[in-house]
Amino acid sequence: MSSSNIDKAAQLIKDGKVVAFPTETVYGLGANALNPEAVAKIFELKERPSFDPLIVHIADLAQLKTLLKEQDIRVNKLADKFWPGPLTIILPKSELVPDIVTSGLPTVGVRMPANDVALELIRISECPIAAPSANKFGRISPTKAEHVKKQLAEADYILDAGKTTVGIESTIIKLTTKGFKILRNGVITKDDLEKVIPFDGTSIDQDLAAPGMLNSHYSPKKSFLIVNSNNLKLDKSKAALISFSGQFDKNFKKVISVSKTNDPKEYAVNIFEAMHTLEDDDEVQIIFAEPVVEEGIGIAIMEKLRKAEFNWKK
Ligand code: TXA
Ligand code: MG
Repeated sequence: MSSSNIDKAAQLIKDGKVVAFPTETVYGLGANALNPEAVAKIFELKERPSFDPLIVHIADLAQLKTLLKEQDIRVNKLADKFWPGPLTIILPKSELVPDIVTSGLPTVGVRMPANDVALELIRISECPIAAPSANKFGRISPTKAEHVKKQLAEADYILDAGKTTVGIESTIIKLTTKGFKILRNGVITKDDLEKVIPFDGTSIDQDLAAPGMLNSHYSPKKSFLIVNSNNLKLDKSKAALISFSGQFDKNFKKVISVSKTNDPKEYAVNIFEAMHTLEDDDEVQIIFAEPVVEEGIGIAIMEKLRKAEFNWKK
């Protein structure tokens, strides 16, 4: 990654254009968060419904301050521990944040990505950058620039900095008077967060639900099923397996192993790349994925697998 590429991307952001860029989680499709016309282009390109708000990416805490209605000391505590990193915090927004970014909500989701290219881009652009994952709405998230090209070639620029290191989207939390609620699971887990602020275990009411959290997401273009005792009996001659433990590998036409060491973190790093590879493989008609134990990072992995399976489950 040369700094001239980042300069070029930053100039485009300043000019109100849309730029795909790497974060540690997945590639984002970014625009100046404070320019409503630029943000509108993200929704257009991504074919994203206007009710689904965007996350705003920042490079430092001074930038954060301008986006928020009020200061909350808990945010500083969380930032100390988890930023830069894959944690998005939903907070009451200031007037500076355009309504189109938050889909008209009084809150904004903010995070500081742990990726030097992303941080440099935000700094040189001199504005916070609103960005969803750089995939068409409902489709597989991108962990490589080529995944972005496949779905969003129309972006004004794609900053290529190789494969992302975390692999799945940030954990999203909302702060309540009691503590935090989790709106989307990721590699930063409830246990990690509870070391900093208390978990609010009261049930999530309607206005707390993340509006973009639909049952179907991350969806490959061909059949996708989570391995279970019933579907394991299906014919595997045209089937591929996304394998975690290795115990189901035999009989499948193709196998992509996502972890050598049975580590769910590696499943996260490789899950979307495996989906993209198998979706593009003409010899594969049906994709199976091995489930993992639903604890820690496994909760987020199973969330992705279930949403990917949703449209294909009979
Ligand atoms: O890791 C990530 O979070 C990636 C990278 C690019 O930063 N971004 C990402 O954005 O996953 P996206 O747009 O694919 O998912 C963000 C989700 C939205 O679907 C929405 O449900 C939720 O964040 N969200 C954003 N702002 C919100 C708000 N004010 N209140 C509730 N949910 C919000
Ligand atoms: Mg997304």
